[in-house]
Amino acid sequence: MGAYLLTGAGSGIGAALADLLHGRGEDLVLVARSAERADELAAAYPGAQVLTADLARPEEAEGLADRLPSRLDAVVHSAGIVALGDIADLDLAQWRSTLEVNLLAPVALTRAALPALRAARGRVVLVNSGQGLSAAGGWGSYAASKHGLKAFADSLRQEERPHGIQVISVYPGRTATPMQEAVHAHEGEPYDPTVWTRPESVAATILHALDGPRDAALTDITVRPGG
Ligand SMILES: NC(=O)c1ccc[n+]([C@@H]2O[C@H](COP(=O)([O-])OP(=O)(O)OC[C@H]3O[C@@H](n4cnc5c(N)ncnc54)[C@H](OP(=O)(O)O)[C@@H]3O)[C@@H](O)[C@H]2O)c1
Repeated sequence: MGAYLLTGAGSGIGAALADLLHGRGEDLVLVARSAERADELAAAYPGAQVLTADLARPEEAEGLADRLPSRLDAVVHSAGIVALGDIADLDLAQWRSTLEVNLLAPVALTRAALPALRAARGRVVLVNSGQGLSAAGGWGSYAASKHGLKAFADSLRQEERPHGIQVISVYPGRTATPMQEAVHAHEGEPYDPTVWTRPESVAATILHALDGPRDAALTDITVRPGG
């Protein structure tokens, strides 16, 4: 059994991965944004250690360092937010919160977890996005945060390889989660979740990467809705 630290375990892809890991008896460390959310996660995942940090304040993630286990087999950053809008319309506060949650919080939490990851020769999974590879109009702040997340992953991979840490970026396409429902609402499109990848399927892909052989490190995994 291993120890896995997850953000975003309360919803969507992160919740689906927490279900899979909890179901096979792994030790979970879950980061919840509020005390109320922490209570919900503790009830949903008996035995899990639940920590509280609002990832819109990355220093709160950094402050978790003393409360982490001494060994972590993986840290999976799934928490994320999106604020759609043209650059002419999105204000700086929206840019800032997107960059805090999607980029700076993973940086801060990874730094806090590095000793435990090094001890276990663990893996870091960054849940990125197709927008982290190619930015579309109307997605500027989100795409910038995810491009930054890719850069962070690529640098971290090189730096931590001597310490045995593997770094995996996962780029889902549209996935049927509350985030995707909100995107459709913004786009003014009807939402049919059956058209998009299920969060359970993205989670299964992440689990495959987490379980993979050490001598064949996965680096970048793109997931698109299948037919
Ligand atoms: N859905 C898609 O189509 C899609 C496509 C590509 C990439 N992604 C990426 O996949 C990841 C997971 O997204 P999802 O679709 O599963 O979204 P989701 O269902 O909206 O879940 C997002 C999770 O992030 C957490 N979170 C957001 N802000 C937070 C904060 N300030 N502090 C702590 N936690 C916070 C949420 O916490 P609460 O539960 O407390 O709200 C929630 O658990 C994201 O990084 C997203 O960018 C999604």
